[in-house]
Formats: sequence, structure tokens, C-alpha cells
Amino acid sequence: MNYRHAFHAGNFADVMKHALLVRILVYLQRKETPLRVIDTHAGVGLYDLSADEAERTGEWAEGIGRLDAPFSPGVEEILTPYRKVISDVRARHGKTIYPGSPGIVRELLRRQDRGVFVELHPADHAVLNEAFNAVANLKVMHLDGWTALHALIPPKEKRGLVLIDPPYEQTGELERLGTEFLTALRKWPTGVYAGWYPIKDVAAVDAAAERLHAGSARPGLRLELYVDDPRDPARLNGSGLFVLNPPWSLKAEAEVLLPALAERLSRGGYGAYRCEAFGPSA
Ligand SMILES: C[S@@+](CC[C@H](N)C(=O)[O-])C[C@H]1O[C@@H](n2cnc3c(N)ncnc32)[C@H](O)[C@@H]1O
Repeated sequence: MNYRHAFHAGNFADVMKHALLVRILVYLQRKETPLRVIDTHAGVGLYDLSADEAERTGEWAEGIGRLDAPFSPGVEEILTPYRKVISDVRARHGKTIYPGSPGIVRELLRRQDRGVFVELHPADHAVLNEAFNAVANLKVMHLDGWTALHALIPPKEKRGLVLIDPPYEQTGELERLGTEFLTALRKWPTGVYAGWYPIKDVAAVDAAAERLHAGSARPGLRLELYVDDPRDPARLNGSGLFVLNPPWSLKAEAEVLLPALAERLSRGGYGAYRCEAFGPSA
């Protein structure tokens, strides 16, 4: 396990993933009934962008670092809860802190909701555990996220979200994402599932999307942000999120948000996006 998210926190992929994560949670919280949020590859939860790891890559400067200037009012409306999470976290933890998915979930969970954060890296798990395990409605687990997912679903709550955000260090993880999604859907059909993936080789992503489309009896979205021309599969050209059982509002929100992010976060002038629905109601 070599991947450490501290080098990448706040980059363009985090901005896309976290802004959409917040939209999903905001939608789910329109109802008072409790939610369960399961984050299978959680990281440490809070990142200091002035720390050595973040400074060494400077990736955050091309991600969250480019969001200071406001977008058009329509885009700002969609980004408001994400911006509020960041400013609330910074007010409490310091102005150079960027929240990872557990930091965001913690900020948004209500008293009736429950969050479970799973992290396998021993050092990262220790940091995550120290920061979040004492919070009343949160639980931090030191386990393999894929195994934990199937042990944790279905939860007693009918509604909720599973976020799967692996490091893609091993070959076959993109295929695994689809397979695990389909198995999990059968066990907890009412859950919302969000799975992040890197876009290097577009053909590999197309193949994974095809398999997911063919295998899923539930509605889904393929949401992608490209900050570079994906002709070079050795580079991280874009960031994607498969969402199964998406909130009905998510596609329209992504159609406003992603073009704005593509324009703002593009490298060398290339920015693009994709918002594609699949499944029964597509
Ligand atoms: C991309 S990072 C997660 C970032 C986090 N979800 C966020 O948005 O802030 C992936 C994390 O998965 C952890 N990890 C790697 N293999 C794992 C596994 N099999 N089970 C659980 N966590 C794992 C890594 O240590 C790393 O912290």
C-alpha cells in the first residue's frame, strides 16, 4: 500500500468528487428519516495543504486553489453547501485544512444519521480513528474496504450512501468496482452508491461503464470531468464518478457544475465533461 492521499488532497479530482458527494448528501437529507453513510476507502479525513506532502506535488493549487473566484450564480448555488463545509472545517481546524470524505460526511451528518469510515493503511487508520471515532454517530474501522462493505450492508437504515474511492494501485480495480457495486445493490437495493475512478485510458473506462450498464437493474449516472486531452493514457486526464440510484436532481446539477469545473480546472486549455444516464429510467 503505497498510495497516500495527503499528496493529492484538494486536487481537481477531489473537488469534483467532493462537490458531488455533498450534493448527494444534501438531497438525501431532504427527508428526516435516518441515513447510513459508508465510506469504504476513507483516508485520514482532514488534510493540511501547507504540509510537506501537499506542498511537494502542489496538486491542490490546480484544484481547490482555483475555486477562490466565484462562478456564475447558478454554479455557486450548487457549490454553496460544499463551500460551507470547507469554511466550517477551516474555522474549526485551521485555514489551510481541506476536508476529505470523512471530514465532509462528519460536517453534514445529522443526529439521527450514522457514518462508518473504513481505512486499511495502519498509519492513516490511526489518524482517522483519533479524529473521528469518538464522535457519537461515527465509527472508524481498520479493515479491507471491499470486505467491510459486504459485512456492513444492508444497514438498519433503509436510506443512505456508499462511497467507494479506492487508490487504483492494483490492476483490475476498475472492473472490481463494477462487480462489487452489482453485488452490493442486490444486498441493499435502496442505497445510493458512488464509485470514484481515475480517467487515464478512456477505452478502459468505457468497458467498465458498459459492464455496469449491462448488469445494473437500477438507474445510474456516469459523471466525468476531463482537465486534459485523454490521448495520453499514462496521465491522470480526468476524474469520474459512477452513481447508482442517484438522486433525481443530480444529473441536472452535474450538467451545470461539470462544465464550469472543466473550464476552471483545465490544464493547457483542454476541459470537457460527461453526464450520462443509464439503466431503467435513462
Ligand atoms: C483515494 S484515497 C481516499 C480518499 C477519501 N475517500 C477522500 O475522498 O478524502 C484511498 C484510500 O484507500 C486506502 N486503502 C487502500 N486500500 C484499501 C483497502 N483495501 N481497504 C480500505 N482502504 C484502503 C488508502 O490507504 C487511501 O487512504
